[in-house]
Amino acid sequence: MRLGFIGTGQISKAVILGILKSKIKYSKIFISKRSPKISKLLSKKSKKIIIYDNNQKILDSSDWIFLALTPKVGNEIIKKLIFKKKHLIISFISTIKMKDLKKLIRVKAKIVRAIPLPPISLKKGPVPIFPPNRKVKEFFNKLGNTIEINRENLSLNFWATSSMMAPFYEILQCLSSWLVQKGVKKYNSQKYITSLFLALAEGANEKSNDLKKLVKESQTPKGLNEQSLKELKKLGFYNSLNKTTGIILKRLKKTK
Ligand SMILES: NC(=O)c1ccc[n+]([C@@H]2O[C@H](COP(=O)([O-])OP(=O)(O)OC[C@H]3O[C@@H](n4cnc5c(N)ncnc54)[C@H](OP(=O)(O)O)[C@@H]3O)[C@@H](O)[C@H]2O)c1
Repeated sequence: MRLGFIGTGQISKAVILGILKSKIKYSKIFISKRSPKISKLLSKKSKKIIIYDNNQKILDSSDWIFLALTPKVGNEIIKKLIFKKKHLIISFISTIKMKDLKKLIRVKAKIVRAIPLPPISLKKGPVPIFPPNRKVKEFFNKLGNTIEINRENLSLNFWATSSMMAPFYEILQCLSSWLVQKGVKKYNSQKYITSLFLALAEGANEKSNDLKKLVKESQTPKGLNEQSLKELKKLGFYNSLNKTTGIILKRLKKTK
């Protein structure tokens, strides 16, 4: 299997780093010269990664094509490329819908939309895909957890919640800085906060069927967690999370 990436930015880098660590069988990965820092870094990691300075050449050399361009660039350049029916095309582009992808691609190739996230470089994290596709599901299951979606509109909800990565890191940063202000060394503050949240997330992932129960179980009556939760609710912290996700969803719907 030969894999081609159109766009060698942050998400291509994360996916390719994940592939290199995985059991995915591939003969070559073709990447574009764009973002030369990233493409050079990747090509140094494996002889099977080849840099081309021409997008069409990447297409002509590959079986699977990953579209990893920003929506604006995608709308400009995909229509100029000549795809083949045999291509399996996987689009990471956030806001170009399936019907528009089909118009831009023009041939009747299989197209799947996927939403990988940066932790895919560590072979971790969810990858929603639309429409369900066995091969693509198996591929991303080797890089994380594939979630198949039957209705394209549902994928917008996943996009909306994936906008919480930076806010999540900001929570870690905020708590870590608070410890530093109290006199704890930066290294220890970061280690403490990231280890704590990693352990909590891993625990939650195991018991993911019942997050509500976890919230309840982690509060001792009249204890610190109970108080913290009450204070944050009073301040509207959780309401604002859902409100924000709603605002992002609205934006995504507008760009449909
Ligand atoms: N980052 C994420 O976590 C994430 C997750 C899921 C999906 N996505 C989606 O994936 C897409 C890419 O995101 P990204 O974060 O990887 O963006 P990015 O870092 O800005 O990467 C975009 C890439 O496209 C390249 N490019 C621009 N014009 C090109 C052209 N004519 N031919 C070939 N390559 C060209 C850029 O090269 P230059 O730097 O040389 O301009 C860059 O390598 C977006 O649609 C985004 O919504 C991102």
